[in-house]
Amino acid sequence: MQKILVVDDAEINRELLRDMLEDEYTVEMAADGEQALQKLNEPGRQAAALLLDLHMPGMDGFAVIAAMKENGWLKKIPVLVISSEQTAEVENQCFELGVSDFIHRPFESSIVKNRIRNTMELFACKNQLEEKVEEQYRIIQMQAEKLREAKPFNKLMMEYNSAIMEIETRLKILNAEFSQEYNRNPFESIKSRLKSAASIYEKLERKGYPVTVESIRENLNDVAGVRVICSFPDDIYRLAKLLTGQEGMILLREKDYIKHPKKNGYRSLHLILNVPIFLSSEKKYIKAEVQFRTIAMDFWASLEHKLKYKKSVDNTDEIVGQLRACADSIELLDYQMQEIRNKIDRSKV
Ligand code: GTP
Ligand code: MG
Repeated sequence: MQKILVVDDAEINRELLRDMLEDEYTVEMAADGEQALQKLNEPGRQAAALLLDLHMPGMDGFAVIAAMKENGWLKKIPVLVISSEQTAEVENQCFELGVSDFIHRPFESSIVKNRIRNTMELFACKNQLEEKVEEQYRIIQMQAEKLREAKPFNKLMMEYNSAIMEIETRLKILNAEFSQEYNRNPFESIKSRLKSAASIYEKLERKGYPVTVESIRENLNDVAGVRVICSFPDDIYRLAKLLTGQEGMILLREKDYIKHPKKNGYRSLHLILNVPIFLSSEKKYIKAEVQFRTIAMDFWASLEHKLKYKKSVDNTDEIVGQLRACADSIELLDYQMQEIRNKIDRSKV
């Protein structure tokens, strides 16, 4: 039988809960917070749940929760508060501290039993899932380490890096020329990144592709990534056209999220290119992903990215709505700024 620890200063309450639960669980009891922590600390079988009173002399329920949080027990043992406290404020405070459920006194025996059972089941599922995720993470790190040790993989990474350098150089030359000829820079900055071995492994696995050098070459478009941050929307199209029109550059795919924004408001121009690189004995084509976006949109995208990768964010719907509205305002602003720049340019001649 699973063990349940009942923590309450009133003997009558402890007895009541024991009578209710002893058919299904081994019930242990503690009369205050200190005793509860002692019991949790004892070696042997861990309690499967804790029923906790809030108001107790000495160490109270809040202090027990805080102590359990500090030493990591709150992640292992679900805590159900049983209290005659009626205010929503106190109940919310308990949930914020990390308790799993709150049962109000006076209670109905069958409801207490059901809530304990449900809480324990949910808690077990959550822990299993977390363990699976951690296991998956360990596997990815291990496989990534293997990849990093393989010579053909490192050669491939050198080639992707060369493709990044090639694109950067061509863009920088265009910027220098525009700066000289027209006294303006079509882009503000470039951010480049090589996908990590762990991300490469994770993406191949997720999409069901084999983990080989050939498969990376064949199936992944974004190992080499270049992000070009422009001041104005028309610079994006001008630069993209100039780059793809250059000798040797092959445009494999274009995704125009500026003309066709994503539902969340994301706007950028994505190109998948085959980029020629010149090695000592051969010329090779290497795939790269080039993203063009405005400065304001880049700011937006990094904030939106945070939302995607944050495990738990409150008021997500509201934030999604606000981000969408911001993206629309950014578009408006980008075109207004472009219009102003055009007026200034026209007045110069
Ligand atoms: P991935 O498999 O994630 O690379 O995406 P995909 O094959 O669907 O291609 P897509 O062109 O849609 O996205 C490529 C990259 O653009 C992503 O990896 C992100 O870096 C960026 N991106 C695309 N959509 C969004 C978005 O909604 N928000 C943000 N912040 N970035 C995005
Ligand atoms: Mg990607």
